[in-house]
Amino acid sequence: MSNKPLQEAEILKILKTVKYPGYSRDIVSFGMVKNIIIEGDKLQVELVMRGVEQRLADGLKEYTHNILKAEAGFKDVEILAEVTPPAEETHGHQPPPEEKAPPQPIPGVKKIIAVSSGKGGVGKSTVAVNLAVAAVKAGKKVGIMDADIHGPSLPTLLHIEDGPGTEGDRMLPVEKYGIKGMSIGFIVEPGQPLIWRGPMLNKALEQLLDTTKWGDLDVLFLDLPPGTGDVQISLSQKYRIDGAIVVTTPQNLALEDVRRGAVMFQHTAVPVIGIVENMSYYSCPNCGHESHPFGAGGGEKESSFLGIPLLGKIPLDPQIMVQSDSGEPVVLAEPEGGSAKSYLQVWENVSNYIDSK
Ligand SMILES: Nc1ncnc2c1ncn2[C@@H]1O[C@H](COP(=O)(O)OP(=O)(O)OP(=O)(O)O)[C@@H](O)[C@H]1O
Ligand SMILES: [Mg+2]
Repeated sequence: MSNKPLQEAEILKILKTVKYPGYSRDIVSFGMVKNIIIEGDKLQVELVMRGVEQRLADGLKEYTHNILKAEAGFKDVEILAEVTPPAEETHGHQPPPEEKAPPQPIPGVKKIIAVSSGKGGVGKSTVAVNLAVAAVKAGKKVGIMDADIHGPSLPTLLHIEDGPGTEGDRMLPVEKYGIKGMSIGFIVEPGQPLIWRGPMLNKALEQLLDTTKWGDLDVLFLDLPPGTGDVQISLSQKYRIDGAIVVTTPQNLALEDVRRGAVMFQHTAVPVIGIVENMSYYSCPNCGHESHPFGAGGGEKESSFLGIPLLGKIPLDPQIMVQSDSGEPVVLAEPEGGSAKSYLQVWENVSNYIDSK
């Protein structure tokens, strides 16, 4: 950052843009900012979070760090946080409880992992489905929810011909390759999506998630629509999402969107597990030479800028597309191939993350 470091009042202005997740108020107005210390090119901000869940506090701390690092012009930014969990809270800055319920888990589902992307068409659904297969291979009970209203793709990717069943007032997910799948595409007629907007769409998705009989799952992948809109925010406020994976391609513009996506999740206190760089390089099927048609090193750069791990790179491989179109994910169809291995590597990293929590 080459800009001149900002002064305290300007730093406070930036901190006022940091909203407490789920609320319209910011951390300054909640009295969470205790001290701002400027020493040369070092900025230290002390936060006090009383009655705040640890994961929420971690998300806020990380978000505050990243926004100050990006905008305040200091070489070093350190955020110190004094956190008291809700149970120990007796008095202080706890936001009024009536504003909004905290995100809830889905009964029976151990972990919810969101797969997101800033832009459409970067391979998000393909990543989600191949990770689901990888998780099944690792012996996990796996579900996938296709929440992409603009382009539901689960029926194609898993070659599902029948719709979901029902049991009483619950919906039964479709099962394929050991994965329990549900898609917004099952309940919306093709060509209708444009009238599904805002609250109506959010309600439909929530209803689908809530009424589906998932049974016991180790992990449920949420294939989100692209972007950082209303759907993403409202789902992450309603459900306790344990982590988000951000998929991108190496083009710079897409990386801009990664930044926005990562910041959005930090803002809603969903931990970002890491970035997947898709169509990262082309591996020549004849000589094995790797070329980088969209540029190299972007994923690493962005990962280090944001302080978010790079979970893996998936090659640009026509076979991935062919297998996806035929409804058999490449991890299943060609498990020994380089592409399958790259998805398996990503799953291993995600799995390590899940196990460490
Ligand atoms: N690594 C890859 N190599 C080659 N083709 C790929 C790769 N990843 C995805 N594709 C292809 O790119 C297209 C878009 O992928 P996909 O549908 O997974 O993207 P998406 O981000 O979910 O898109 P949308 O925003 O429309 O939901 C598909 O045809 C898919 O088969
Ligand atoms: Mg998709």
